[in-house]
Amino acid sequence: PLVSMKEMLEKGKENGYAVGQFNLNNLEYAQAILQAAEEEKSPVILGVSEGAARYMGGFNVVVAMVKSLMDAYGTTVPVAIHLDHGSSFAKCAEAIHAGFTSVMIDASHDPLEENIAVTKKVVELAHLHGVSVEAELGTVGGQEDDVVADGVIYADPKECKKLVEATDIDCLAPALGSVHGPYKGEPNLGFEEMEEILNTVQIPLVLHGGTGIPTKDIQRAISLGTAKINVNTENQIAQANKVREVLNEKPDLYDPRKYLGPGKDAIKETVISKMREFGSSQKA
Ligand code: G3H
Ligand code: ZN
Repeated sequence: PLVSMKEMLEKGKENGYAVGQFNLNNLEYAQAILQAAEEEKSPVILGVSEGAARYMGGFNVVVAMVKSLMDAYGTTVPVAIHLDHGSSFAKCAEAIHAGFTSVMIDASHDPLEENIAVTKKVVELAHLHGVSVEAELGTVGGQEDDVVADGVIYADPKECKKLVEATDIDCLAPALGSVHGPYKGEPNLGFEEMEEILNTVQIPLVLHGGTGIPTKDIQRAISLGTAKINVNTENQIAQANKVREVLNEKPDLYDPRKYLGPGKDAIKETVISKMREFGSSQKA
């Protein structure tokens, strides 16, 4: 069923695993991720950035596509459709009205008081609709669609406490050294801050930039209250590599099903391996 993230993340935090957010880019992503979740009996979060939604035809198209695939597949595991890095109250409202079950309001680039004010507004509307809300503090490095950072700023645990207490959000993404896209060298995650945040706020934590984080860091983050891990680039790389390989091997090929099909299988395999690494398999 389509549900908010609230319960799946609380269960994850309680039982020491994280639920993956896998970003949608087109139909094949939705197919691959839903199939992986059902096979693994894993809860799953379908992340949709504003840019990806535009590419697919808008929020309504995304919701209709996901719902009809779930009907066609007879999906039994919990699935959330989540707006990734929502840029404003208006965008969050549009997603909620289109049928998204979860939204992120990313006002992390604003001063704390403004971040709190807009996040509060989003929570009020979202909770009326049974929709969960994620907020962010600090700066995730790298670039993802419209979200560009020129540096990494670690979230301040005291600000995290203020934001959570003032807003009633369902989960918090404190940026602690993670990066969108591939890492240059080893990631340097702020586990001390993560522990401090774990001890001051009750809600599950979110780790952005899941691509390229070593398993030992993933496990440590989960042990410190991280119950949601976002992955996008790793699926894109797996798909692109596979499509390139097939097209290089068969220069005469033109039927999209014959190269996008293998690309889809590559996404599915990647998602399955992440679900096992995050511990969410067999938890639905
Ligand atoms: O919001 C989406 C994620 O944080 C994705 O990060 O592309 O580095 O896996 P990634
Ligand atoms: Zn992100």
